Order: sequence, then structure tokens, then C-alpha cells
Amino acid sequence: MKVTVVGAGNVGATVANVIAHKDIVKEVVLLDLIGDMARGKALDSWQQAPIDYYSTRLTGTENYDDTAGSDIVVITAGIPRKPGMSRDDLISTNAKIVTSVVGSILSKSDNPIIIIVSNPLDVMTYAAHAASGFDSTRVFGMAGILDTSRYRAFLATELNVSPKDIQALLLGGHGDTMVPLPRYTTVAGIPLTELLAADKIEAIVQRTKKGGGELVKLIGTSAWYAPGAAAAQMVEAIVKNENRIYPCCVKMEGQYGLNDVYLGVPVKLNKNGIGDVIEVGLNKDELALLHNSADHVKKVMNTFDSMNL
Ligand code: LAC
Repeated sequence: MKVTVVGAGNVGATVANVIAHKDIVKEVVLLDLIGDMARGKALDSWQQAPIDYYSTRLTGTENYDDTAGSDIVVITAGIPRKPGMSRDDLISTNAKIVTSVVGSILSKSDNPIIIIVSNPLDVMTYAAHAASGFDSTRVFGMAGILDTSRYRAFLATELNVSPKDIQALLLGGHGDTMVPLPRYTTVAGIPLTELLAADKIEAIVQRTKKGGGELVKLIGTSAWYAPGAAAAQMVEAIVKNENRIYPCCVKMEGQYGLNDVYLGVPVKLNKNGIGDVIEVGLNKDELALLHNSADHVKKVMNTFDSMNL
């Protein structure tokens, strides 16, 4: 199998590196407008292979010819946030980049599964899907695994338990309106609500919603270790046809009472991309939060539409 990662910034390089560590595909191509950056980071990752024991061949390029025949493409291209910016502030630059990347990719590969990582995530997934003309099961976005992972990490710290034992679900857009779901969070099967007081849970929910921004403030640009690992985990589920259940950004077609909006919901991921979208029961408050998040994404989708790309 061949995977292309577009964008050799911090996130793209990490996606390529983590996929290689899993040793599950023959080839990873890292593509960037700055070819030497892609070549250098791919070469550095390849030189890690004898130490960390993987065979996945990594190469870097600026030439889309080298992406021909890709089975999966992960798009991370675009500018990242600077302190004080919201993800939505990136739309005018990144919408053009993502739309043109999809066109270039599809001129060389017939039917790849496309995973979007560029921000604003939900709307860039919408843009990529529109540019591809593909079925929406083949174009989707990475955000839910990352946001859920941040939530799980905060809970692991608070409870002083291994993050391995925390299972959780988070819905909605990749922004401050995301909806972590404490009712669907367990610690080794024990409902979170039995282990942690409501005010402590609420504080962690709020911190999760601003989890990306916390890192932008600390680092001066957006995060890459967890985002890169999250996208690589999606690639793994597809390559291994695992039917893993992850929250991913997909087009809503009636689920949760939502239509024509791109939003994070739990899905089954397999070799065809999105298998089923899973609808969990939500109470009135949770559903209201999800619809509020959808309304927010819809507004940014309208901004994209008015760009007439
Ligand atoms: C974040 C960026 C990748 O949440 O959106 O860190």
C-alpha cells in the first residue's frame, strides 16, 4: 500500500513518521511545495528505520507525479494558527490550498481515501469533499481522535490512572463548540461520573474544548505529536480493515437530526473508509450542544461557499 502525506510541516512529518513506525504500508510519500523540506524530513525518518525497526520506505518530493497510485492521502497542507487566532481565521488561505491539493492528487491517483487534517477542519473536509466529487465515505477529517485523546489525557492526570484505561466519546466540530460526553466516558468500564465530581468533570470538559489553543499559546504554533498520531491511527484502521470506532469528521445525512454539515461523530473505519455512522442516544442538553456546534460549522461553511473557489 502507498500513503501520501501532503504538507511536510510539523503535523505532516509526524503523520508520516508515525505511520512508518507502525510498519503497515510499503511506502509513504511526503509531499511539500518546499521539496527539500519534504525530502529532508522523509530521509531523517528513513534513517530512523534501522533503529526503530520498520521497513516502510519514506521519500520526500514536491512533485505530484511521485504520489501516483496512492491508496490513502492525508492532507495537512495549510498555515497553522498563531497565538490569538481561531481555527476559522485560517479559512481564506487554507481553503484555496486544500482545494488545489485535492485536484493535484486526483490527477495522479484514481480513487484514494482522503483524510483531512488542515484547519478549520470541518470546513476543509467539506471543501475537499466538494473538490473530489467522491462519495462522502471516502473523504473525511481527523479531529475527534485528537480531541478525545486530549480529554482522556486530562482525565488520566486528574484521576492518576493510566490513559490506556480511559474510553471516551466526543462529538461536534473541531473548535470551542466541541461536545465531550462525560455520560459516555468510562475508566476501565467504571462510569466517569462515579469517580469524579461534576465540577471537576466540567473543568476538564472546558479545558478540552480549548485544548488546541492552550498549546498554541505555549508553543507559538499549533500542536503536532497528538494530531500526527491521531491521523496515523486512522490510516492504520483503514489499512488493516479494522472496523475501529473513532470519532471522525463526516458529512451528516440525517444522523442526529443534522443534514449537509460536516461534524465529528463516531464511525466505523475500515478499508472502504467510513463504514457506518453510529448514532448514540443523546439527552436534550447534549443534543442542543451538538446542534449549536453544527450551526457554528455551518456558518464557516457558508463563508467557504461565498469564496466561490
Ligand atoms: C489542534 C490543531 C491541530 O487542535 O487543530 O491542535
